[in-house]
Amino acid sequence: MLSGSAQTCFIASATLLAACVGGSVAADRGNGQKIAERWCTGCHVVSPQQQQGSDQIPTFAQIRRSDRFDDQSLSTFLAAQHNSRMPNFSLTRSEIADLVAYIKAHGR
Ligand code: HEC
Repeated sequence: MLSGSAQTCFIASATLLAACVGGSVAADRGNGQKIAERWCTGCHVVSPQQQQGSDQIPTFAQIRRSDRFDDQSLSTFLAAQHNSRMPNFSLTRSEIADLVAYIKAHGR
């Protein structure tokens, strides 16, 4: 009984570990798109297909082209607290990596 549950626990944590390692290696751009569409479209234009957004706020295409943002600085920005109209999100590191992959990949 006891050894049975310990075994289940071992298998579960091994799977979890594999998922974590996998996540840090390959950011999931598709998931980044989902996060963007859910959390960012209220203000930013996140894709060429999006019709509405604010013209006061940089689009994801502009952010991608911006010299100020490479993958590293974009990740840092998204993890930081903003004292601005840009809301603070509680994103996990893997969500941030996915978002950065999405922002860097879409359009030209
Ligand atoms: C409530 C509106 C709002 C939402 C929602 C929002 N942002 Fe922003 N964001 C802004 C504003 C406004 C700015 C312009 C800079 C400022 O005022 O700080 C900005 C700036 C940025 C910048 C920096 C651009 C630059 O050139 O300085 C990035 C990167 C960014 N947002 C990413 C995101 C991501 C990713 C999401 C979704 C997870 C998101 N934002 C959701 C309002 C928003």
